[in-house]
Amino acid sequence: MEKGAHESEPLPDAPAAEQSAITRDADVLLAVDDLKVHFPIRRGVLFDRVVGHVYAVDGVSLAVRRGETYGLVGESGCGKTTLGRAILRLVEPTGGTVHFDGEDVSALKAEPLRQMRQRMQMVFQDPLSSLDPRQSVQSILEEGMRAHGIATAGGAGTARLKELLSAVGLPTSALRKFPHEFSGGQRQRIGIARALAVEPDLIVADEPVSALDVSVQAQVINVLSDLQTDLGLTYVVIAHDLAVVRHISDRVGVMYLGALVEEATSADLYAEPSHPYTRALLSAVPVPDPLVEDSRERILLKGDLPSPANPPSGCRFHTRCPWRQPTRCDDERPVLAELAPGHRVACHYAAEIAAGTLQPHAVETDAIP
Ligand SMILES: Nc1ncnc2c1ncn2[C@@H]1O[C@H](COP(=O)(O)OP(=O)(O)O)[C@@H](O)[C@H]1O
Ligand code: SF4
Ligand SMILES: [Mg+2]
Repeated sequence: MEKGAHESEPLPDAPAAEQSAITRDADVLLAVDDLKVHFPIRRGVLFDRVVGHVYAVDGVSLAVRRGETYGLVGESGCGKTTLGRAILRLVEPTGGTVHFDGEDVSALKAEPLRQMRQRMQMVFQDPLSSLDPRQSVQSILEEGMRAHGIATAGGAGTARLKELLSAVGLPTSALRKFPHEFSGGQRQRIGIARALAVEPDLIVADEPVSALDVSVQAQVINVLSDLQTDLGLTYVVIAHDLAVVRHISDRVGVMYLGALVEEATSADLYAEPSHPYTRALLSAVPVPDPLVEDSRERILLKGDLPSPANPPSGCRFHTRCPWRQPTRCDDERPVLAELAPGHRVACHYAAEIAAGTLQPHAVETDAIP
């Protein structure tokens, strides 16, 4: 809500750092404003020429409150990882700002940035490639602690290590073992323990369960959820699968080709998905009830995901949208606007689609260049 107010009524003459109502809101831990990450595409052997850009993240604004879990979903390649990395400034943004606890992360120099990073940690998709195979679990956990000046020696250090392992549901004997000695689910618990070791406030978990068996996914999600309750952590949980973020997220943002197309509370998003892309994503998820399964609306997305190096004009979803209208959808990029309190949608026709006054039609994939 605050976000909508901020977007429609910027304070006219205030300095940039003071313009955002979001960054001043004490409840907001993370505020991302019009964030852009464009990767240059280079060609040439003798002369290194920039021949274009991959618009990986292209104007994302969102705010995450303290203690909240924000789920970020979208197809592979839509920019989720790049957005997560840009929040921690592991990749330099091309434009826009990230405020963490009121501070502009984009403006921090090396040492203050290092201190800030202690408060923001990332958990990666593939724990095996993100954990050094030559290091024992103890050494992996101590490394981060030492880097941020947290004592690892003596009784306090040992107690801390034991506490970390018990927090993620691993026995103390795990300390002496190496990553390859664990199952995928256990390795992800180690990845979470490593993030926790430096006592962060925010964890960006990038597809934390995508590499795991379905039976293990829920256990790891439960570990994250219990830790949040116990430690008051704030999460951004990234997934390509809506089902994964549904139960742990307070709010969910749906990304398509570098931008948010819809954002709502988890309950509202699943009850009333309003952007055509979200509707298609949700309609692809099977429903356990056979009666509902047989009768429910199914929208098959035709056409491939366009390249983020050459995104479609106007609404980026227009090449695949069953509700596309000439010529506004092709010409004008829709902004994320409030359709209902706390429910933002980037579609020119969201209200008509919700009311049922605009009907879907076949998508002609041949017409797509
Ligand atoms: N370092 C990079 N250099 C160039 N392109 C990149 C780089 N990292 C990611 N990309 C491109 O940016 C787009 C978004 O990637 P990514 O953020 O990994 O998406 P997701 O996590 O949603 O799968 C993709 O087209 C990807 O190929
Ligand atoms: S703006 Fe047009 S093309 Fe884009 S989602 Fe809405 S109806 Fe579809
Ligand atoms: Mg990714």
